[in-house]
Amino acid sequence: MLEARAPAGARGRLRDAGALAWAGVSPGSVRDALAEAATRLRAAGCETPRLDAELLLAAVLGCDRGRLVIEARSQLPVEAVTRFEDLTERREAREPVAYILGRKDFRRISLAVDRRVLIPRPETELLVDVGCSLPHGARVLDVGTGSGAVALALKDERPDLVVAGTDVSDAAVSVARANASRLGLEVSFAQADLLDRGTYDAVLANLPYVASGTLGLAPEITIYEPPVALYGGPDGLDLVRRLVSRVDGVAVVGLEVGFDQADEVCSLVAQAGFGSIERLRDLAGHERVVVGRR
Ligand SMILES: C[S@@+](CC[C@H](N)C(=O)[O-])C[C@H]1O[C@@H](n2cnc3c(N)ncnc32)[C@H](O)[C@@H]1O
Repeated sequence: MLEARAPAGARGRLRDAGALAWAGVSPGSVRDALAEAATRLRAAGCETPRLDAELLLAAVLGCDRGRLVIEARSQLPVEAVTRFEDLTERREAREPVAYILGRKDFRRISLAVDRRVLIPRPETELLVDVGCSLPHGARVLDVGTGSGAVALALKDERPDLVVAGTDVSDAAVSVARANASRLGLEVSFAQADLLDRGTYDAVLANLPYVASGTLGLAPEITIYEPPVALYGGPDGLDLVRRLVSRVDGVAVVGLEVGFDQADEVCSLVAQAGFGSIERLRDLAGHERVVVGRR
């Protein structure tokens, strides 16, 4: 039951009164609260208003989304109404759900995220697939690690690999280290401009690749995500070019790219001497990762 997870005071009132009134906001059932929040989020331009409302309310109540269906007619405790209102307002201002909740699931792990780091995207999981294809004991560097998503997911799935991560942002390195410590994964993180001084068999990178001045990005990105994680110069590929020119001794390179950048990046990787080049597609069918092997 939802009430079982509500604050102690609210549980008492639920028992006493049978049902709670809202704090003057709107009617008090789970179903009504979700419907109202979804309407507001849709009006604010959110792409998945109902899902967002469910994720926020589930977080407030400390339950999973399935429970919200079972408990659709249950009355919400007053504290939950107030908290849900706060989170809904933040989402109405287009703050991403992951920042509001402070976490994002990625492969098999859950990462703590905040505005210091990019929110890991599903297509980036392709880079972990590349890492998982490496031979036993390979040394791997995740360049532009952000929250540590690629490095940590890889270590979680392939404990035999020696995994490290770099980021130019000190704040991102702090987030990645905290994630490693919380998850109990042995990955070293360092602040560096692209590569550190280590020796690696493979380099994986989801570097910034949005062209400067790109219009039409969602407010969730432009208002909340760190610019250092997004923009890669006039055509978006400044950092990718710099990295590819520096991976001389590396056997495998895996690079995430924008949906229209694969051709250009394949040329760069070929020019850098990688004889075998593969393109991996995301679920929408776009070529989103270029893999070079020597
Ligand atoms: C698109 S985000 C990717 C974050 C993470 N890898 C992920 O997929 O969620 C790019 C990251 O590259 C970092 N970055 C930008 N310029 C860099 C540089 N010159 N060297 C290393 N990291 C850089 C940013 O700070 C940011 O964390």
